[in-house]
Amino acid sequence: MAVRIIATGSFLPEKNVSNDELAQYVDTSDEWISSRTGIRNRRIAITETTTGMAVQSARRALEMADRSPLDVDLIIVATVTPDYGTPSAACQVQAELGADHAIAFDINAACSGFVFALNVARMYIETGYSTNALIIGSETLSKILDWNRRDTCVLFGDGAGAAFLEKSDRGIISVVQGSIGKKGMVLNFINRKTNNLFVNEPVETDYLHMDGQEVYKFAVRQCPKCLIEAMEQAQLTVEDIDYFVLHQANVRIIESVAKRLKAPIEKFPMSLGYTGNMSAASVPVMLDQLVREGSLKRGDKIAISAFGAGLTYGAAVLEW
Ligand code: ACO
Repeated sequence: MAVRIIATGSFLPEKNVSNDELAQYVDTSDEWISSRTGIRNRRIAITETTTGMAVQSARRALEMADRSPLDVDLIIVATVTPDYGTPSAACQVQAELGADHAIAFDINAACSGFVFALNVARMYIETGYSTNALIIGSETLSKILDWNRRDTCVLFGDGAGAAFLEKSDRGIISVVQGSIGKKGMVLNFINRKTNNLFVNEPVETDYLHMDGQEVYKFAVRQCPKCLIEAMEQAQLTVEDIDYFVLHQANVRIIESVAKRLKAPIEKFPMSLGYTGNMSAASVPVMLDQLVREGSLKRGDKIAISAFGAGLTYGAAVLEW
């Protein structure tokens, strides 16, 4: 018995922002951004919300799976940008979908969130506790960025991707997860500071901070390492893998991983050029694109990997 992704869905906000448009507001250029990151455009939420985008992507996945919201047993939303502290995004998605029989909760593993959700959902299904799961990565990162800081605001975008999982004779073969909390501060934002009656200091809103070079070093070391571990556990080699679906942070990181694995770059599909880095939504949006354009076919072997704040990282090998 295995657990398989039987359907996917995604949703991006309507507003597209090109590097050139961004350069009208921020001291940057298309040349700087695209040469260092590969990013040329990103979608930015204006009226869209984390929950709303999650619901849209979930509806598309359920439609592909030919399942009704009432069939759903488990909903996990991976996000660092929920609309509310509570209720969770997953409970809001449950309510909006009318998935009244589902257990619903969020997980925060930043850009690795989708891989973490995949493993949690797999275990719920493998143990028989749930018969299926809807896992969603949804982010409105634009609301936690300091739009005066060119070192971070140019890198990110908003969006959501979903996958519907069920028992099958094939599917997820191996999953590797890890966390390095000691290095957590290289990528952080303070959600809400203590601001009770007895605090005398003025409370300022905080935004995302990133030590870009430290994150880069972490990503190019940890991503190939966990991919190799996941492939070893699956008893597969680089040659056996049809696609490496990586977290879409930066083209240079993806190229470096390809080089370390000695894998042709053609096996590494990329959406970051038009989405930017969408944290937990990156991997499921990329998967959905591959499915809907017909590139990913049943029987293909894929390896997914993501890395991000926490620090967290993970990889999974699947037969599609
Ligand atoms: N436009 C123009 N100039 C810029 C910009 C910008 N948007 N941002 C920074 N600069 C300037 C800096 O001010 C600096 O100028 P100075 O030398 O005069 O001080 C110069 O460019 C170099 O800055 P660095 O930060 O050293 O640039 P670096 O070459 O390291 O590239 C980058 C920055 C692209 C972020 C790189 O560190 C990187 O790829 N890091 C990986 C991190 C990443 O992808 N994070 C995404 C989120 S985390 C995740 O998803 C896991």
